[in-house]
Amino acid sequence: MNMKTENTVWHQQQVDKSQRAQMKGQRPCLLWYTGLSGSGKSTVANAVDAMLFERNCHTYLLDGDNVRHGLNGDLSFSDEDRIENIRRISEVAKLFIDAGTIVSTAFISPFASDRALAKGLLESDEFIEVYIDTPIEICEKRDPKGLYKKARAGEIKDFTGIDSTYDVPQQPTIHVKTAELNIEQCAEQIVKYLLDNQYIK
Ligand code: ADX
Repeated sequence: MNMKTENTVWHQQQVDKSQRAQMKGQRPCLLWYTGLSGSGKSTVANAVDAMLFERNCHTYLLDGDNVRHGLNGDLSFSDEDRIENIRRISEVAKLFIDAGTIVSTAFISPFASDRALAKGLLESDEFIEVYIDTPIEICEKRDPKGLYKKARAGEIKDFTGIDSTYDVPQQPTIHVKTAELNIEQCAEQIVKYLLDNQYIK
């Protein structure tokens, strides 16, 4: 237990996760998207979210850039702050799972140890690691926000894939190769996994 929480007691709630999930007619899970900046995490996650919504699933999407405007607006891109970024997101995602939701997180989440931490907070079948695998050359060519250009020019430091590490997922649950598929096909691959494994109907 954290020293700061030693005088707080966990309160057992009357309505539990399985009841909430049952009411929603789905198996709650976390789709944890990871990949380089510009790999297409947010785009694919949004397409999946729209497909799930069409199927009347209860979903929520936590997106890196958006969360960094609010909850994590105080964090930088130092290793230490990236770790805190992912820790907070993991805890928030856990709450969404408890609420019976299919939650998606789209963050670079470059460190394998942090992704393992997120996984460790959940039950084993709740964590679905989705590796949005796009070669850095393609991300850099797309450069939708002009950030690679700035990083190469030394105007942004600690940029993932340039002067900050990205640990490639060794055994992702779903491996999406965006260079070989269009966005719809990428999203269908993920929805199919959820159907095949009875997370959704
Ligand atoms: S993470 O590493 O902590 O998981 P996160 O997904 O929240 O990163 O934010 C990444 C987004 O922030 C990128 O898509 C990009 O738009 C922006 N960004 C700004 N500076 C950096 C940087 N130094 N490294 C990576 N992304 C950056």
